[in-house]
Amino acid sequence: MAIYTLPELPYDYAALEPVINPQIIELHHDKHHAAYVKGANDTLEQLEEARDKDQWGAINGLEKNLAFHLSGHILHSIYWNNMDSPKDGGGGEPLAADGVGELADAITESFGSFAKFKAQLTKASATTQGSGWGVLAYEPVSGRLVVEQVYDHQGNVGVGSVPVLVFDAWEHAFYLQYKNQKVDFIEAMWQVVNWQDVSRRYQAAKASVPLISF
Ligand SMILES: [Fe+2]
Repeated sequence: MAIYTLPELPYDYAALEPVINPQIIELHHDKHHAAYVKGANDTLEQLEEARDKDQWGAINGLEKNLAFHLSGHILHSIYWNNMDSPKDGGGGEPLAADGVGELADAITESFGSFAKFKAQLTKASATTQGSGWGVLAYEPVSGRLVVEQVYDHQGNVGVGSVPVLVFDAWEHAFYLQYKNQKVDFIEAMWQVVNWQDVSRRYQAAKASVPLISF
C-alpha cells in the first residue's frame, strides 16, 4: 500500500508565467515529483521485504534510495507551495504590513539584512554543482535561520534544520526555458516567492519542540 501520494499543485500549470512556463511545471510535477513519490513507496516495500526475509545484502542502497526519494518528495511538496503568481501576492519582500513581520525580523537578525540573505540564497542555489537545492531553513538549536546548499535532495543538510523556503536548482526545474543560465532562473524565482507560505512554515518550525538540546 502506498504511504506517500503526489500532492495536487496549488495552481494551474500556467500560473507562474513568465517566470516558469507551463511545460516545465507539468513535467516537473507530473513526472519528476511523481517519480520521487513512487521511489519512496517502492523503497519502503523493498525494506519491508528485507525485514520479512531477514535479508540485508541491499541495506546500504535501500537506505540511500529512501533518503533520496523521500527528501525529493518533501522538498518538491514545499517548493510548489513556496511559489505564487505575482498577481496573487508572490514576489517582493516579507513585510510587517503583510503580516509576516516576524519572518522579516528573523531574516534580518540571522543574515544582517534582506539584501544579504537574498544574495546568499541566490549564490548558494545558482552555484550548486550538479543537481541540488538552495534552502532557507530554521535551525532549532540556535533558533536562527540558515541557508543550506543541498546536493541531490539529501546531501550537505544540517541535521535538525527545517526547510521553509526551497529553490530547486536541478536542470529539470529550468532547462527547457532558461537553457544553461541557471543564475537567471534563480534570480527570476524571487518574483514568485509566496512569503505568506514561508512565514507559515517558519512559525510552525519555531513552535515545534526542538528535539535537539544540550
Ligand atoms: Fe525538481
